Amino acid sequence: MTLFPRSTRRHAFAHFLVCASGCCCGRTDKGKPAVPVPWLKAEWRARRLNPRVQLTIAECLGPCDLVNVVAVFSEDEPIWLGGLVDEERFVELLLWATASRDAGRLLPLPSSLQPHRFDRFTSPPIPSESAS
Ligand code: FES
Repeated sequence: MTLFPRSTRRHAFAHFLVCASGCCCGRTDKGKPAVPVPWLKAEWRARRLNPRVQLTIAECLGPCDLVNVVAVFSEDEPIWLGGLVDEERFVELLLWATASRDAGRLLPLPSSLQPHRFDRFTSPPIPSESAS
């Protein structure tokens, strides 16, 4: 039973949004690290992760300064990752998605990706009195 009046017939339990365009993420033309989009899409398809674990290659998700941002949504709290600046991190992302699909639920974030996690919704720092 859901809490809301509308429902979908597409029963994903996790949704990975990978930012690959905008001002920063994947913008190798600006000297930023690459996002391996063709490889990621091909692997996602070959492993048949959709529709249970959905992949969306997105445009800007907002926190551009962290470059190569990924947001993962599920029934649990959202997981935001940034600074995925080498291909190995994307391999770990793919392996996490695959293991989650096999488990039938989003598994905990792998320890190798923990250093990339950040809190998306924060307040700006309060200016100190000495700055005024
Ligand atoms: S360009 Fe990726 S978060 Fe803005």
